[in-house]
Amino acid sequence: MKTATDLFGGAGGSSEGLRRAGWHVAIAANHWPTAVATHQLNDPDTEHRIKDLSEVDWRTFPSTDLLWASPSCVWHARSGGRKRPPAEVERLRADAGAIDRATAFAVIEAAEVHHYPAILVENVVEFLDWTLFPWWLDGLRALGYQTETLVLDAKNFGHAQNRKRLFVAATRGLDVDLTAPSMPAVTAADILDPDPGKEVARRLYVSDQIDQIDTEGVPHLVTYRRHARPRRADRHQLATITAGGNHHAVATIVDGRPHHRMLTNRECARAQGFDDDYEFVGTAAEVKRQIGNAVPVGIAHWLGSRVAAALGTQQLPLFAA
Ligand SMILES: C[S@@+](CC[C@H](N)C(=O)[O-])C[C@H]1O[C@@H](n2cnc3c(N)ncnc32)[C@H](O)[C@@H]1O
Repeated sequence: MKTATDLFGGAGGSSEGLRRAGWHVAIAANHWPTAVATHQLNDPDTEHRIKDLSEVDWRTFPSTDLLWASPSCVWHARSGGRKRPPAEVERLRADAGAIDRATAFAVIEAAEVHHYPAILVENVVEFLDWTLFPWWLDGLRALGYQTETLVLDAKNFGHAQNRKRLFVAATRGLDVDLTAPSMPAVTAADILDPDPGKEVARRLYVSDQIDQIDTEGVPHLVTYRRHARPRRADRHQLATITAGGNHHAVATIVDGRPHHRMLTNRECARAQGFDDDYEFVGTAAEVKRQIGNAVPVGIAHWLGSRVAAALGTQQLPLFAA
């Protein structure tokens, strides 16, 4: 069985997708013990390390056929209105952001030691705007990798969620077919519990949206964001599941009266592609963070399958730079 390393493995969306594609995740590492505990609970056959991956002697890690890495995206993402500083400011900053972005260098450090035949990296799309992104990509090329950059949306991979993320596929001498697949759409209604929630007894932040619902008995997605509109759950996917805050709610008119509830963590986990028997460790807020951080399982499954197919048919140029 082909082996994979999952760096910044979190709760394990990436690992779960790789396992579904037939990979054995030999090792997973992350600095957050709660996420590692979740990963361990769901894949006890994987070696787990709680590590700050900016400070690792990569010789202590095993060599595997595939490296998956999801470096921290916190300081690339511009959610919440955070703006990118000018390039000259960004280059000089020795702040938390620079240290957080530097987690991406773990990919190059590990690749230099292990010469993985294939590397898959996930991050937010804004990773492309990072001042050092071209240099980072050149680092992989200098190690002998051909690179391909893709922006993939979870909704095209069997998820009931709109979630665009950046993926970099770096391979050495492999011909990986990354032609976008055509998968049937899954709507939010497919993953929602039937519970309509409580009858709305007072004005809510989303009441303007609820007032626009004119179809009885059909759950609608209402979002705790300005200018949001209600959307029929049987025709739409959820907005992106995030690691913090609670923005997703569902509203249904039952017997002429509006009902409303927030989405559960389990529903969010389903939108990320986790089966209901996937267990999460931690408080509700910690579980939410792990789920919101995860790589959509369906995307990891597809990418893992594509790389496995290429590895299965081709001779590997092991350790040839
Ligand atoms: C995008 S999430 C990974 C998601 C994971 N691949 C999944 O599918 O569940 C990034 C993870 O990196 C972890 N992380 C951030 N900085 C780190 C560091 N310096 N060392 C190790 N892990 C770090 C975070 O705790 C978070 O769990």
